[in-house]
Amino acid sequence: MISSTQLDGIALIVGSGSGIGREAAFSLAEAGAKAVVFADKNEGTAKASSDESRKYASNKDYQTMTFKMDVQDDKSVQDMVDFVVKEFGRIDYAVNAAGVDNGRHAPIAETNVDNFDRVMNINTRGNLICVRAQVAAMRKQEPKTWSSRNGTRDIGRGVIINLASANSFVGLPGKGSYTISKHAFMGITKMAALDHSPEGIRVNAVCPTWVRTPLLDEELRKNPEVQGMISAIVPIKRAAECEEVSDTIAFLCSPAASYINGASLLIDAAVTTTVRLF
Ligand SMILES: NC(=O)c1ccc[n+]([C@@H]2O[C@H](COP(=O)([O-])OP(=O)(O)OC[C@H]3O[C@@H](n4cnc5c(N)ncnc54)[C@H](O)[C@@H]3O)[C@@H](O)[C@H]2O)c1
Repeated sequence: MISSTQLDGIALIVGSGSGIGREAAFSLAEAGAKAVVFADKNEGTAKASSDESRKYASNKDYQTMTFKMDVQDDKSVQDMVDFVVKEFGRIDYAVNAAGVDNGRHAPIAETNVDNFDRVMNINTRGNLICVRAQVAAMRKQEPKTWSSRNGTRDIGRGVIINLASANSFVGLPGKGSYTISKHAFMGITKMAALDHSPEGIRVNAVCPTWVRTPLLDEELRKNPEVQGMISAIVPIKRAAECEEVSDTIAFLCSPAASYINGASLLIDAAVTTTVRLF
């Protein structure tokens, strides 16, 4: 293993009660994070995930806590960030994984504006509020350095990873509200990186296509045709395992990625490289 992929800082994972956020928290714990705070609107799943993370943590001083919050509530987002800083003194890695899907597919001409507001409120506004509060805390922290075989370099004050989507790059018929919200989340990522890199804060997004979360597994059980669609569209003919996204998130948090900033990394097995006619 390359030693620069090891972590040793404090992590805050928003939306860590289930799915990719939960796995991201596990990957960061496994990579050596000293503490992981599990934030979610669902306190029960956040607590269960936090407890489970102890099994995977590699840092001998590992600590984990939970925080109930809602990305739609500005105060609860600020309280969450204040909580982590009060408990652990700083936030080295923040992952923003809270998000919702489109609901019923509809072409733009039939957009339900209430549904559009719901999706934008969580995926875009909610995540912007999270990034805003995280950056504001990180800019006040001392920067860190990393020493390797070639000397010592600045690795900045903190890292933020946003869960955008392959739909940040391309559309899917009927998935307008989600696609628009994820394009905007990529914009937030770029702007936060641009505005705050001089202060030593890196901001990147990961952009997956289908990921094997419990929700996708349930959909596959209910509707086996979805597997056929994935096989037809995805060049390697399967959905991503959660770890294939969450381990990438841990890498992007690490000193090994200290020059990667403002990037939106597709994790899509080349789905978006071509027009597929069959
Ligand atoms: N699963 C996929 O195939 C896939 C593909 C591309 C992108 N994504 C993105 O990754 C992120 C995570 O997706 P997932 O599939 O793991 O979803 P998920 O539903 O399994 O997990 C989302 C978590 O966020 C929490 N959450 C939702 N709304 C919240 C709110 N208002 N405040 C606080 N917490 C809230 C939920 O309680 C849940 O624990 C989303 O942004 C999603 O759009 C997922």
